[in-house]
Amino acid sequence: MQKVTSISELQNQLKQWRKQGLSIAFVPTMGNLHAGHIKLVTEAKKKADKVVVSLFVNPTQFGVGEDFESYPRTELEDEKKLVKALADLLFIPSVFEMYPAKETTTVSVAGLSSLHCGAHRAGHFDGVATVVSKLFNMVQPDIAVFGEKDFQQLAVIKKMVQDLNSPVEIIGVATQRESDGLAMSSRNGYLSEQERVIAPKLYLSLCQAREMVLQGLLSFQTIEQQQTKQLQDSGFQVDYFSICKADNLQIAVEKDDELVILAAARLGKPRLIDNVCFSAR
Ligand code: PAJ
Repeated sequence: MQKVTSISELQNQLKQWRKQGLSIAFVPTMGNLHAGHIKLVTEAKKKADKVVVSLFVNPTQFGVGEDFESYPRTELEDEKKLVKALADLLFIPSVFEMYPAKETTTVSVAGLSSLHCGAHRAGHFDGVATVVSKLFNMVQPDIAVFGEKDFQQLAVIKKMVQDLNSPVEIIGVATQRESDGLAMSSRNGYLSEQERVIAPKLYLSLCQAREMVLQGLLSFQTIEQQQTKQLQDSGFQVDYFSICKADNLQIAVEKDDELVILAAARLGKPRLIDNVCFSAR
């Protein structure tokens, strides 16, 4: 696996691959890689000749008081995992390489970015959309692979690509979980031993809510309230627990078919997010 830190080195290699007629898949990450990230690389490898992975802790998607400074940085271990997963090129730019100017053009995906996580993390999705669109311009991949774990992020990226007529095919990959159901996340490392035992209840609660929706006995609002209360009683501070339409993430009503239940809740230091996506019929 090649490792490059500058945009020019990245593009020199990409130019050669394109001359050879090879297709390029791209997996953007912030590092501290776990089996969820590796699953994206494995999927990417199945769909294209060459896989480019970026590792960049993007300052513009962190809010004031969030964990940008303390975000886990484990570059050497990450590199080893990517070699094993047969990634072809690792791009690790500095903050200056990505943002040489203090003031910069930003990309903002209207509507979607202000819902759910966007309502609790002002500017977060603008930071994500801006860095992903810059990375897309640098790599110009045929496909890009994202996790369904960050369901709203995936929706924002799909909408951005559609709105800006970007010629990148976006692939979503199912969430990789620990054996007790907890969605893998770089921020799970912030959980204390005691919180780690409680943490899987978020997914359990989402699965219970899905069963209740499928039974059709209670209103969506009652289901959301019951599950929120249950999580609060277990020690979570719930930001939202919302039954939504899977396509536009607007609040769903009982006659909607394609649903996603989105939840975000703080447990000690980390804020955990998870979702279940399903068809109601
Ligand atoms: P990061 O949190 O490092 O995640 C990188 C990719 O891995 C994202 O597409 C995310 O959805 C996916 N991922 C994380 N946990 C996963 C899991 N348990 N199962 C499957 N996929 C999982 O998301 C970001 O970085 C950043 O916002 C980024 C897109 C790189 C822009 O800075």
